[in-house]
Amino acid sequence: MKVILTYGTFDILHYGHIRLLKRAKDLGDYLIVAISTDEFNDIKGKKSYYSYDVRKEMLEAIKYVDLVIPEENWEQKPNDIKTHNIDVVVMGGDWAGSERFEYLREYCDVQYLDRTEGISTTQIKENLK
Ligand code: CTP
Repeated sequence: MKVILTYGTFDILHYGHIRLLKRAKDLGDYLIVAISTDEFNDIKGKKSYYSYDVRKEMLEAIKYVDLVIPEENWEQKPNDIKTHNIDVVVMGGDWAGSERFEYLREYCDVQYLDRTEGISTTQIKENLK
């Protein structure tokens, strides 16, 4: 079984998220999504509209997603990869080549998928203002 892992906040879920999750799942058999906790967002200076529990609930309802786990700090990724026997870490193309993910090649494959044009959580928030 090929296990895929991706990271993100996934606040105010939109079709860019859904397409990313579909393509991530298509790379393997089992998709794990690590979503940043509200406490970790605080550390990053971000505040999500929906709480961790609600974001988790919504992601768990998506047919491409098999498991949702918390992302609580910057250092946990190698441990996540070992704990869940991850084959591929997948991220949106906005992270392509970033050292935040490139160093994970020591532990598993790392792939970047093109973002969907013209949609983001930030943009939705701006448009609704
Ligand atoms: N993503 C995507 N296409 C988009 C928006 C997001 O493929 N149009 C992907 C990101 O690359 C990431 C995942 O979805 O791998 C979760 O992204 P996240 O940062 O939570 O969503 P954004 O909409 O980019 O949020 P923000 O505007 O707050 O950065």
